[in-house]
Amino acid sequence: MNVNNQPCRTIWPDPARTEIIRIIDQRHLPHRFVVEELRTVADFVIAIRDMHVRGAGLIGATAGFAMYAAIASHPGLPDQRVLLQAATTLIAARPTASNLAWAVERQMAALATEPDRGCWQAKAFAEACAIADEDADFCRRIGEHGLAIIRKISAEKGGAPVNILTHCNAGWLAFVDYGSATAPIYAAQAAGIPLHVWVDETRPWLQGAKLTAWELGQQGVPHTLIADNTGGHLMQHGLVDLVIVGTDRTTRTGDVANKIGTYLKALAARDNNVPFYVALPSSTFDWQCRDGVAEIPIEERPGAEILAITGQTEDGSEATVRIAPADTQTANYAFDVTPARLVSGLITERGVCPANEEAILALYPEAR
Ligand code: MRU
Repeated sequence: MNVNNQPCRTIWPDPARTEIIRIIDQRHLPHRFVVEELRTVADFVIAIRDMHVRGAGLIGATAGFAMYAAIASHPGLPDQRVLLQAATTLIAARPTASNLAWAVERQMAALATEPDRGCWQAKAFAEACAIADEDADFCRRIGEHGLAIIRKISAEKGGAPVNILTHCNAGWLAFVDYGSATAPIYAAQAAGIPLHVWVDETRPWLQGAKLTAWELGQQGVPHTLIADNTGGHLMQHGLVDLVIVGTDRTTRTGDVANKIGTYLKALAARDNNVPFYVALPSSTFDWQCRDGVAEIPIEERPGAEILAITGQTEDGSEATVRIAPADTQTANYAFDVTPARLVSGLITERGVCPANEEAILALYPEAR
């Protein structure tokens, strides 16, 4: 999507020196656009763990390039041990988004077909680029499929703006391009359908306030930032036509793990008959998982993230200030699980389907 009217992705290799991978360091948005260079597996692990990059699709794409970096930055010919060590450290960086292990395993499988270790670097680079390109393409297709949902609501409203609520950032910043939850929004905007997005601020990292508000602003999509607990009130007053969120891990039965607070939005949507859709590329399916609440690992992050808040001061510098007594006990769960029964439908790259095993497997028969 665009940054200052120039097309941009969230991760890309230096065209002349492909051992350098560039990312947008998202910790500084929206105040500063900082590009960071990653070269070693350690660089990649820090970038994923400490939220320089985040969002399921982008974490997966980053992991794909990290496996390439494990080979490119290794002195001499790498062996299986080098790959396994990189894979283990990367997978441990963040536990919830399934894309991380999925991308690492995809790289391992690609390299397993190449007996000549001298060819591993080129092979891993091609696979990393393929993972990134596929992520962008799948999100574009999610937009095409989700557009029909927005178009129908727009027609029912006689062309009045469709009000869409989203939580966290499942935008292009959470993927390589387009986003999952935002892809139908961008497609509807391109189709000339009037719309407006309610943006949950999304404590504690404020991905909504800092990232979604910024990227929608860059694309010229009308939006309003709201405090996290506002959604239910808006739904009770008929001010939300549709909820679209992303997911970091999706069970084969249609349960979805997404940013903490998503479950409460789904409950409010159900109570107010507001359609609640979840947009995802197939890389977020965990085909082994049946019961999201029981089985999906929920990341717990440092309490410091909810005791303090980071933003821009009047003089333009970045500052972190404490907002709770320093010795307050904290519990910082990063995700929650919304059961399939609260999900109106899944918007995937292959089409829209109800959130149940039969319908999902009809779209993805290879997972039977
Ligand atoms: O902690 P994050 O920022 O990596 O969390 C991921 C998310 O942004 C959300 O859960 C998002 O809605 C789904 S990721 C496509």
